[in-house]
Amino acid sequence: QRRGYHEKVLDHYNNPRNVGSMQKGDQDVGTGLVGAPACGDVMKLQIRVNKDSGRIDDVVFKTFGCGSAIASSSYLTELVRGMTLDEAGQIKNTDVAKELCLPPVKLHCSMLAEDAIKSAIANYYTKNPNTRVTDLSGTGGSIPDVKVEIEQTGGSPAAAL
Ligand code: FES
Repeated sequence: QRRGYHEKVLDHYNNPRNVGSMQKGDQDVGTGLVGAPACGDVMKLQIRVNKDSGRIDDVVFKTFGCGSAIASSSYLTELVRGMTLDEAGQIKNTDVAKELCLPPVKLHCSMLAEDAIKSAIANYYTKNPNTRVTDLSGTGGSIPDVKVEIEQTGGSPAAAL
């Protein structure tokens, strides 16, 4: 085990779970695409949300990056499956780093996973503004700002919010 990576990292790296991609244009799919400026690694994470339950039904990733980033995204997909968007949005990179026993120099790799799930959730809400029933403002501002566009169905410009 070169550099003493924990066996959990190696396991996820060698057998990554839930690699794949979904149709980006699908209404039920939220896509997060994030990069780590320090190293140039890129992670794409996509969630499929069940409208009725509000839970993540399916989740896939593709990571162009280091072993720790691949392991972080693989573990994250296992973690968020079945969660509500609220729950998934509160995952911290330290949760991932702790589970995988990442060394300090690899913390930014787990940050990529946190950024990716938040970005996927934000994208889902942008596409489905009316499903945003819960106020996330209490989570310490860690959720990226989502620009919510309200569609005016009546065609009248007078409908003020
Ligand atoms: Fe950049 Fe791991 S070295 S994500």
